[in-house]
Amino acid sequence: MAPLTIPLNDGTTIPWLAFGTGTALYNKEAKKEVLVAINAGIHHLDGAQVYGNEASIGDAIAESGLPRSDFYVTTKLAQIPQGKTVKDTVVESLRKLKLEYVDQFLIHTPKYHTNLKAVWREVEGLKKEGLAKTIGVSNFQVKHLEEIIHAAEIIPAINQLEYHPYVFKATEPVIQYQKRFNIVTTSFGGLSPITRFAGGPIDAVLEKIGKQLGDERGKPVTSGQVLQLWLRKKNIPAISTSRKVERLQEYLDVETLRDLSPQEEKEIDDVGSKVHHRVFHQAKWIDEESAKF
Ligand SMILES: NC(=O)c1ccc[n+]([C@@H]2O[C@H](COP(=O)([O-])OP(=O)(O)OC[C@H]3O[C@@H](n4cnc5c(N)ncnc54)[C@H](OP(=O)(O)O)[C@@H]3O)[C@@H](O)[C@H]2O)c1
Repeated sequence: MAPLTIPLNDGTTIPWLAFGTGTALYNKEAKKEVLVAINAGIHHLDGAQVYGNEASIGDAIAESGLPRSDFYVTTKLAQIPQGKTVKDTVVESLRKLKLEYVDQFLIHTPKYHTNLKAVWREVEGLKKEGLAKTIGVSNFQVKHLEEIIHAAEIIPAINQLEYHPYVFKATEPVIQYQKRFNIVTTSFGGLSPITRFAGGPIDAVLEKIGKQLGDERGKPVTSGQVLQLWLRKKNIPAISTSRKVERLQEYLDVETLRDLSPQEEKEIDDVGSKVHHRVFHQAKWIDEESAKF
């Protein structure tokens, strides 16, 4: 079965499932884990300059022996070092990744920059030069999107956000704003309701829907898979990670499952809206200095 893809506002598509090298692999050599993901069949790789391991992605891609066209590679902008340009940082990323272009380049967070408009103009230049096929942002709220969109020549294609049922309600304003410009949300931290906030009101709903889906296909469906189906139903690519090949198989298996019904989706929306839990960028969402990526 071909991997699922989601169309973007720049005419390209993005594979629905990604393997991330932040969080569990943050600042760690990750070639082995990335190769395991590639060999399992996940060729959408989510990196970032600040993760300190872009070279691991490059090494794993090179060692896989697969052609460049098989991969969808993302990296994200860290703080721009004094005296450097955005392009300088991308040239350095591409050297580490051993690639001539990235499929997606994102401003990692608005908090790294004082003049978002000027940074976005530089990011637009990357697309014009072919160094990034798709450009976008991450951790942007409405006010940040407004700041760049009014002056933009190219509308961002992506906003990569923490997205799961426990931030569903809090994230609605930015999701609605993005609809006006066909900006796709991609999700990190999507499994948080079961991995970081287990014991909440969503557990029983996920188990019930998982049991229903499992009965239908004659093979168990986990709560994590139901969370990823919820993302898929909303056309939101899932950026996850794992050090276990069985878990990667579980993520890939989601692509073979049926869509959630509108009722199942709404039940998760409604129960998720009853509580608020955010892992990254806590109370003020993006302003917390201690936020980790
Ligand atoms: N743009 C940003 O600011 C930003 C911020 C955060 C993350 N990200 C990106 O998103 C990627 C994924 O983020 P995430 O780790 O938060 O994703 P996630 O999908 O919420 O969680 C994946 C983690 O959950 C564990 N897991 C999965 N199923 C589990 C289960 N049933 N029980 C217990 N543990 C389970 C996995 O560990 P095992 O190894 O045990 O399977 C893995 O470490 C990052 O690596 C990074 O690329 C971006």
